[in-house]
Amino acid sequence: MKRSTVRDIASRYQNGKKLVSLSLYDAWMAELADQLDIDILLVGDSLGMTVLGYETTVPVTMEDCLRHTAAVVRGSKKALVVGDMPFATYQSSAEVALKNASRFMQEAAAHAVKLEGGTFMASTVATLVQSGIPVMGHIGILPQSVNIKGYKVVGRTVEEKASLIEDAKALEAAGAFSIVLEGVQKDAAAEITQALKIPTIGIGAGVGCSGQIQVAHDILGLSGDSTPRHAKIYQDISGLISNAFSQYRNDVADSTFPGAENSFE
Ligand code: KIV
Repeated sequence: MKRSTVRDIASRYQNGKKLVSLSLYDAWMAELADQLDIDILLVGDSLGMTVLGYETTVPVTMEDCLRHTAAVVRGSKKALVVGDMPFATYQSSAEVALKNASRFMQEAAAHAVKLEGGTFMASTVATLVQSGIPVMGHIGILPQSVNIKGYKVVGRTVEEKASLIEDAKALEAAGAFSIVLEGVQKDAAAEITQALKIPTIGIGAGVGCSGQIQVAHDILGLSGDSTPRHAKIYQDISGLISNAFSQYRNDVADSTFPGAENSFE
């Protein structure tokens, strides 16, 4: 099977497929996900928290995102890989956004980029799309704006829902190929989805979205106390890792490792 394009994603959606997406950051996880035909691999700036130990996504840099996006592209053969544009790399002007989005396409070989924001980012999205760069929008909770808005679920009031629909339509009109709905009240998310021709990808936005995305670390039990309520832990591998490290520590301490099979004559 060849590498998916944004046109393949659109046609899968039009044929009624629920789109499956994961946010992950390295080649080996990408390879595992790719073997399972996950549609979209997002290299999210959530890597700031999951991998780099920051409290928010704000300190994440272009270099962080480019390096991890390139790794995910190398580890996969079929999925569409989306690079997440970090804080302060696209908001100041469409020119700055185009320069940095182009780095994702050229240096990391990404197939699309994602950026946060609705109506106020629409003209930037249009510039990128007209320049040949597929864009995934992102509305609802905007983690890069945490210092102003926090992580509050949106879409619970009539005004918030109307504003989200306006944002989503502006991004669609600008040429976005899909929109992430993060932390959106579930009926509002379903209504936004119905109002669009492009797919919505939900995270904490209920089952009425066109597809879902989860952070791989969250569903693997690697996020500890920071596991968000919307995440379901499918397999808690933190206990397995801790167990392996503990056995290794004990084996080294009592000289049972390395054994003969791990040593050279
Ligand atoms: O950074 C990320 O992983 C994301 C997803 C949660 C959508 O933006």
